[in-house]
Amino acid sequence: MKTTDATVLDEPKIHEPGADAVVEPAVESRRRHAATGVKEAKIYIDGKFYSEATAKISVFDHGLLYGDGIFEGIRFYNGRVFRLEEHLARLWDSARSICLEIPMTMRDMTEAVLETIRQNHLRDGYIRLLVTRGTGNLGLNPMQCKSPSVIIIAATIALYHEDFYRKGLSIVTCATRRSNPAALNPAVKSLNYLNNVMARIEANLAGADEALMLNDAGNVAECTADNVFIVKRGQIFTPPVTAGALRGITRSIVFEIAAELGIKVLETDITRHDVFVADECFLTGTAAEIVPVVKADARVIGNGKPGPITIRTIARFKEMTRETGTPIFV
Ligand SMILES: Cc1ncc(COP(=O)(O)O)c(C=O)c1O
Repeated sequence: MKTTDATVLDEPKIHEPGADAVVEPAVESRRRHAATGVKEAKIYIDGKFYSEATAKISVFDHGLLYGDGIFEGIRFYNGRVFRLEEHLARLWDSARSICLEIPMTMRDMTEAVLETIRQNHLRDGYIRLLVTRGTGNLGLNPMQCKSPSVIIIAATIALYHEDFYRKGLSIVTCATRRSNPAALNPAVKSLNYLNNVMARIEANLAGADEALMLNDAGNVAECTADNVFIVKRGQIFTPPVTAGALRGITRSIVFEIAAELGIKVLETDITRHDVFVADECFLTGTAAEIVPVVKADARVIGNGKPGPITIRTIARFKEMTRETGTPIFV
C-alpha cells in the first residue's frame, strides 16, 4: 500500500557495507539506520551539537510526559530556508498561547537553525524544531519545569512519490474529529499530536492516502498534517482557522499565488458534500508541499485528475521554493 507518510517521520533504509556480517543485539543494529537520513548527523540541543546516538533528553521532560511543548516543520531548498520568519513567528505564537517562554531570541533561533543545517552539510532538506517544557517531576504542573529545551534536527526528506503529484491522492473522512478549539486549539502547533495520529491510523486502516478531519460541527477542518483546498467554478475555497485548521504557511502561500493569478480565495466553511462536488481538490503542508486529491470517500473528484488550477499553483510554488528563502551559507 502506498502511504503519504513516507516523510521525515519514516526511517530511511540506509545500508552500510559489511553490516550484514556482524551479529549484534537488536538495539545496536537499530543505531545503524540514521533516522535523519544524514550520515554522522549533528543534532542541536540547548546550544550544543550531539550525534544521533547521544542526542537525548530527560525522561522527566514534560514534552515526553505530557506532550507539553511546541514544534515547527521547516523546509530548506537549494541552500535557503523557505519562509523561516513565518515559521518562527508561528512558533512564538504557539509558545505564547501555552505560556512557554522560548529561552532565546528569534535572531538567535534563526542562527541556531542555520548552523544546524550547516553542521549537517545539507542544501535541501527538512528541519524539525521543538521547544519542550523541560524537565520537571511526574506532576503535570508546568511550574515544575524551570528551563525549556530547544531541539533542532536537520533531516533529508523523502519526497512523496512523484506519482502522488502526477496522479493525486485518495482521502477518507475519519470518525476522529479535529480537536475542538475550546479544548486544544489546533492553531497551537503542540507536541500533542495524538488527535492527528488517531486520524492517520484511520486512513491507514482504510487503505487511503490521507484522512479528512471534520470539526464538531461536521465541517471540514483539515487533514492530519495538511490544509485542505477545493476549487469550484474557478474559485478556491478553504476552511477558516476557526473551523479547526492550522494557519498553515503553505496555505498562506496559496493565497499569495492565487492573488498573482487573479483567482479569488474564500475562507469559508466546507462540507464533505462540497469536497465531493468540487472541480479540484488539493492539500498543502510544508512536508507534503502542494499535492492534488482526486478521490474522497471513494467519490471521484472532478475528472479524477489533478485540475488546471492545482497544476498552476504547484508550478508557481515550486518556483518560489527555488528562488526565495533565508540563505544558509553566506
Ligand atoms: C495539523 C496540520 N495542519 C496543517 C499543516 C500545514 O502547515 P504548514 O503549511 O505550515 O506546514 C501542518 C503542518 O505543519 C499540520 O501539522
